[in-house]
Amino acid sequence: MPPFSYAISTNLVFGNGTVASLPAKLTELGFGRRIFLVTDPGLLDAGIPERLKSVLDGAGFSTTLFSQVRPNPRDSDCMAGAKEFAAKRCDAIVAVGGGSAMDTAKTIALLARQGGTPSAYADGLRSYGETAPVACIPTTAGTGSEVTRSAVITEADTHRKMTLKHEWLRPAFALLDPELTVTVPPSVTAATGVDALVHAIEGYSCTKSQPISRAFGAQALGLIYRALPRAYSTPDDLDARSDMLLGSLLAGLCFGSADVAAVHCLAEALGGLYDTPHGIANAVFLLPVLRYNVVGHEAIHAEIARHMGVAAQADSDGDAVQRLLDEIEQWLAQLDIPPITRLNGVNRADDDRIVELAMANGSTSSNVRPLTAEAYRAILDDAYESAQEGRDIG
Ligand SMILES: [Fe+2]
Repeated sequence: MPPFSYAISTNLVFGNGTVASLPAKLTELGFGRRIFLVTDPGLLDAGIPERLKSVLDGAGFSTTLFSQVRPNPRDSDCMAGAKEFAAKRCDAIVAVGGGSAMDTAKTIALLARQGGTPSAYADGLRSYGETAPVACIPTTAGTGSEVTRSAVITEADTHRKMTLKHEWLRPAFALLDPELTVTVPPSVTAATGVDALVHAIEGYSCTKSQPISRAFGAQALGLIYRALPRAYSTPDDLDARSDMLLGSLLAGLCFGSADVAAVHCLAEALGGLYDTPHGIANAVFLLPVLRYNVVGHEAIHAEIARHMGVAAQADSDGDAVQRLLDEIEQWLAQLDIPPITRLNGVNRADDDRIVELAMANGSTSSNVRPLTAEAYRAILDDAYESAQEGRDIG
């Protein structure tokens, strides 16, 4: 077995109602009293940030609410957040929301302590250093950002998606309370849930994977595959929500110390160019990438099929891989995710740009099957052709 390493420094709490323990945990972990609460504006309507603010203020914290967070978060918002963090002399950050809020928070925490711009870190022009302490409270089950060392930020001027990655970016604390996820609308539940499954598949199969990542991925695959259709069709099914939040966490622990791969490289290109929601962009490329990846890599994909519970130990690897492709197709169809042809702004005239962005993505080299620009082009063709077939059938 080749040598490997695994790092995780995030203190975790999981369970219904655990949000009440937030003030005590922040005190225990030495977060300081002045909290910068980062959230996405969509959550304000649900009242969750206000509820958290009153819990914190009631426990003697002083809280500044920052909701300048967008899907596919922008570098400019992170810089504005760092400025406000400094102006209010805050000590630490609590992020409540989905991946965008958490990635914005992690980047603000870095800029607030180390200065500079997100691009300077992503391009290697500036060294990472200690960040302000970050606590993450995910309200969607998908990104796993609460335990990862990365933040994906879009450069507003160029639409380039940049991945900031360093151990300093890993949150000090993650609080996962499934009750906070029951109000997530079905379309968001579906898209973020597919992202979580892709994290488990790519984290398990990529060239950077290792036994500990795979142990987490194995658990995540089955949980997410079984729970997502239930959480989508019955939003108040708290058991399904709990399984999804746990599955998403385990998937984060899987890929967070390994990598993602081709699905994410294409999805990030789409998200940067057209602002396509991350989970939807993942969903449209999942099957085309799998059809490419299984060639010559049947054994690892047969393992994935068995962990998902769609193939038996006794099945041949070839049969297990076929079941994986068939079952994922059925599974995605239940979630009503739009095909690539119906996504806002997506245009085949941009194929070259998408391929170029995907090739430039640092995770391309982690894909289980080596990639070329021609391979990416063939995967894109497959995504469009299968979207066309789906529409004809539908
Ligand atoms: Fe993702």
